[in-house]
This record gives sequence, C-alpha cells and structure tokens, in this order.
Amino acid sequence: MIDVLTETPVQEPQRIRGLEMPWNRVMGSIEGPASAAKALGPWHPQEFVAECVETVPEAGGMMTFVFRRCDGAPLAFRPGQYVNIAFPVNGDDQEPVDRSYSLSSSPTQPWTFSVTVKRDPGGLVSPWVHQNVRPGTVLDMLGPVGAFHLPDADRRARYLFLAAGAGITPIMSMMRTIHSLAGTADVVVLYHGAEAGGFAFHRELAYIASVDSRIKVFYALGDRGRPEDWEGFSGRLTSAMIDEVAPDANGRQVYACGPEGYLNSATELLRKVGVDDTSIYMEFFSGDRQTLLEYQAELALAADIAGEIAEDIAESAEDYFESQPAAFGMYEPGYDEDGTLQATGLALEAVGPEAPAAAATPAPAPEAQAPDASSFDTVGTGSLTLSFMRTGINVRIDPEEPILGVAQRAGVRIGANCKEGMCGSCKVVRLSGEIDMNHQGGIRKREIDAGKFLPCCSTARTDMVIDA
Ligand code: FES
Repeated sequence: MIDVLTETPVQEPQRIRGLEMPWNRVMGSIEGPASAAKALGPWHPQEFVAECVETVPEAGGMMTFVFRRCDGAPLAFRPGQYVNIAFPVNGDDQEPVDRSYSLSSSPTQPWTFSVTVKRDPGGLVSPWVHQNVRPGTVLDMLGPVGAFHLPDADRRARYLFLAAGAGITPIMSMMRTIHSLAGTADVVVLYHGAEAGGFAFHRELAYIASVDSRIKVFYALGDRGRPEDWEGFSGRLTSAMIDEVAPDANGRQVYACGPEGYLNSATELLRKVGVDDTSIYMEFFSGDRQTLLEYQAELALAADIAGEIAEDIAESAEDYFESQPAAFGMYEPGYDEDGTLQATGLALEAVGPEAPAAAATPAPAPEAQAPDASSFDTVGTGSLTLSFMRTGINVRIDPEEPILGVAQRAGVRIGANCKEGMCGSCKVVRLSGEIDMNHQGGIRKREIDAGKFLPCCSTARTDMVIDA
C-alpha cells in the first residue's frame, strides 16, 4: 500500500508571470473603451433580483449569505466590490431599507455569490438579516459597485492586505480569487481581530495558506485579553508589525479594509514604512480623503453606466444580448414578450416554515403634488426654500448646501447612515422642485423616476417640497 502521508520534496508550480483576471482578455479583445464598456454587459452594475441559497455561520458574529441571481445569469464583479441590497426590514408593505455589503466570494465562481454580514446587536438591518434571510428569501439588489478592487491584470502582483474585523470580507474575495487563478503573485495578509475565537474564515485561510505558497496569513489580536497560547501578534497595528510581515511593504500594492480609526492609523503607518499614497487602496465609507473623492467619481460613473444598460435592456432585451460578442455567450437568458428575463433555474424549496416570503416589489411612490406650505414656520436664511411637508416647516437655504444637513439642523427626521449616497437609508420623496444629486449607487433608477432622492448627496436647484 502506498503511504500517501509520506513527505516527499515538492517542486514549486510553474506559473505565468503576473496575475490576470479571466475576463481581462475578453475586454482587451473589444475595440475601444466605449465598445468595451458596452460589451461588458454582465460585468457592469445592474438591478437584479437574487435568492438566498445557503447561509453559513462564521466566527466573530458574522454570517455568510450565498445567493444566486433569479434570472439565471452569473454575477460578474471584481474582487473587492460590493452590492447594494434592499431589505424589507419593516415588512413587505413598507419601503425597504438599503444597505451595501462587500462581496466575500470570488468572481471566478460567478454562478453564486455571497455577502458576509456582521451582526451589530444595536443595528437596524444586520440583526434582521441574520434572523430573516434564509434559503428561499428573494431580495432586490444593485451592483456590483465599488472602486476598491484588484486590478484586471497585474504583471507584478505583490500585495499587502490589511483587514480588521468585518473588513476581512472584501479581502476574502481577493484572496479566494488569487488562490483560484494561475499566475505569480505574492500576498501577505495581516488580519486584526478583537478575540482569539473571532476570526471569520480562519479555517479556510489556514487551508489556503497551507496549499498556496503565494499567500501568507498573519493574525493579530487587539488590546484586549489574549489567551496564553496565542501565537500571533498582539496589540494594535504598528509600523514594526507591518515591517515584520512585509519588510518590502513599499514595493507592494496595499489594500486595507476595517473601521475608520484603523484605516486612519494604517495610512500613517504605511507612509512611515515608505509606502507611497498611490499604492494604498482603502475601503472607506466615510471621511474626506482624496481616495474617497476618486472613489465617488468612479461609482457615479458606474451608476450612470448601469442606468444606460438598464435602458438598453428595457428597450430591447433580445437585441441587446444578441449584439454582444460571442465571447460573452456565457449564458443565454430567456425572454418573455416584454423582453423580461425569465428565471430558468430549478425551483428552490425554502428551509423550514419560518422562512420569510419573497420581498415584494416596493410600493409606488405617492403621486407628486404641490401642497400649500405657506402656513409653515420658516427658519434660516438663504435664497431657496425647502418645505418639509410632514414636519410642517420651511427652511431657507443656499443652493450649495447638502439637503440632509439642512434638514437635520432644522429637526426634520430623516434616517441616514453613510452620508455619501451609497447606503440608501436617507431616501425620501421629492414632491416638487429640482435637485442636483451625486449618488454612488444608493438609489435605483426606477426610484429616481418615481421622484425619490438621497438628500445626503443632493443640493437644491430650485425651491422644493419634500415628503419628510
Ligand atoms: S445614501 Fe447613505 S445616508 Fe444617504
């Protein structure tokens, strides 16, 4: 009998130089950026419906939700991007609450995709998601979106990934992608957690690091109690820690994701060890950094492209897909007479009687009307008037002031989370007036058409009447 466990010297695999995403050659084969963008079809943000097919509990109070698109298409995305999901938190007859979650799966396995959600006991959405999203749950999504992702091709793929807590989610997508692709790469991961048993994905990370010589994973526990047998790093991120795991950090592209304080200190420390700002990519959901500005510009463009593609599909779904190059013939969607994509997959059985029903299509926005707000009190100074109908107040503002800040100062209750036009939580209905909105995927085209807008990233162009 052969002893399969005997250690024999193993040679390193031979690999092509650098790392290349599988879609890169297809993109390169399309002439010119405009036709490439058009041909990208499934690779660009879209509005779609997906059903949960699996839930996987993870360490650290996290849960992975695996989905598949209901139209049978693969979800094409870049590792590190996120999707915006509408959750019917307040019931199917109420407006859903939108949240953005990073994709944790690899786009090299596009037929299902996953998001990993950390349960925040005081939060509105994450406890609901943990409790209610089950196999069979159907949710509206928009995506993929996000400028925080690996390049499509990298001749010298040398990366340092810094992750803290739930920040491991997009980093996990990147690692799974690199692990699944051929090509030379050199990856160092430094993963900070609050407690020894709280590192999500640690079993898979250990496996990947044990079989893929391109990837090294280091763990660090923060300031709190450490078990005696802890062998990883201790304490917050320091430049010495970075130096130890990656003495050549200044020759690597650095991707970092975690809480804002962690990212702020990572930026300083990376500069200290000689990493140039242009080599640092961060998943930032707040703050006022240059990276955020670039991020906003890229996302705004992505949302525009999504809108254009949605219009193309609405006009003629069949023509649109037939015009795609044969190289994109990854799937053949079915159509009904109106050009609507048909689900062709197997019907899915919900697990257990407690599985929630499918999310209903959001109720249409109330009919636009111009109510009389002349009896309301008026506060503030400025050239324009915002009338908040439910609150019963008029606020005078200047055209360049973001509407959310003005509303909150005047005591108008509008929920808000990211304040960057991404999460959709501040969405309200505009009853009359014109706005300039610079959103980043937090609102769908059909919602804009129905008169909704995101006050956190909007300014008024004229007097306005708002349903808030
Ligand atoms: S979109 Fe997040 S607060 Fe406005």
